[in-house]
Amino acid sequence: MEASVQTRPAVLILLGPPGAGKGTQARMLEEKFGLVQLSTGDLLRAAVAAGTEAGRQAKAVMEAGELVSDEIVIAILRDRLAAEDTARGVILDGFPRTTVQAQALDRLLEESGQEINAAISLEVEDAAMVTRISGRYTCGTCGEGYHDSFKQPAEAGVCDKCGSTGFKRRADDNAETVASRLEAYHAQTAPLIAYYDSHGVLKRVDAMGEIGAIAASLEEIVAGVR
Ligand code: AP5
Repeated sequence: MEASVQTRPAVLILLGPPGAGKGTQARMLEEKFGLVQLSTGDLLRAAVAAGTEAGRQAKAVMEAGELVSDEIVIAILRDRLAAEDTARGVILDGFPRTTVQAQALDRLLEESGQEINAAISLEVEDAAMVTRISGRYTCGTCGEGYHDSFKQPAEAGVCDKCGSTGFKRRADDNAETVASRLEAYHAQTAPLIAYYDSHGVLKRVDAMGEIGAIAASLEEIVAGVR
């Protein structure tokens, strides 16, 4: 009789500065591979909108473009990882962002017998960030992401995904906050590239090209590590 093979859910990390395309690519990988996108930015914005204690503490920090405390973010991610749907495998978008968060993730995964399949660094030039972020908007209903120049809906003003006509822009998508977000990235998050390299799971992707071409590179990586 053949032994049954237990496959562990995939754990993928998308690393990259604000506007690198983490959310755009995570949603495409989610669709392609049936994984679940976990964006700590989205979870924090939901906490702010719901007026929870964590949301109240995070609001001003996010508006200033700084990083929310490790304690709050790790607690939010731990709760989300405990949900049943994550058994399909996850794409972490915007987490971890500090060495403390990376070490906390290692411990959380160890407790559940999981490990990181790949930490993919989306590599982009700082100059591209401001253009990408200042042109970004999302569907107010399903969250599909768009850009004034680079990704417009097929029919102007109508979401390709859900047909909604309501769109929104993020409060922290302004030139001043973007500068602080980039500074936080270089000081606190970029060191994680070396962290994951030393753990043997780092993959680098040139993310300056066209969205579809970058998606194809990512699909190849993900297919190879699952
Ligand atoms: P978060 O929501 O994670 O924002 P971010 O990291 O600043 O990243 P973005 O969402 O801005 O960019 P993205 O890489 O997803 O790009 P996107 O795909 O949208 O965090 C927000 C805040 O929450 C933080 O500042 C912090 O305060 C807090 N926070 C979150 N997580 C935290 C954590 N772990 N610890 C502490 N604090 C935390 O693309 C951008 C635009 O460009 C879109 O319009 C898109 O259509 C377009 N685009 C994408 N790819 C391309 C391409 N290849 N060419 C042209 N245009 C493109």
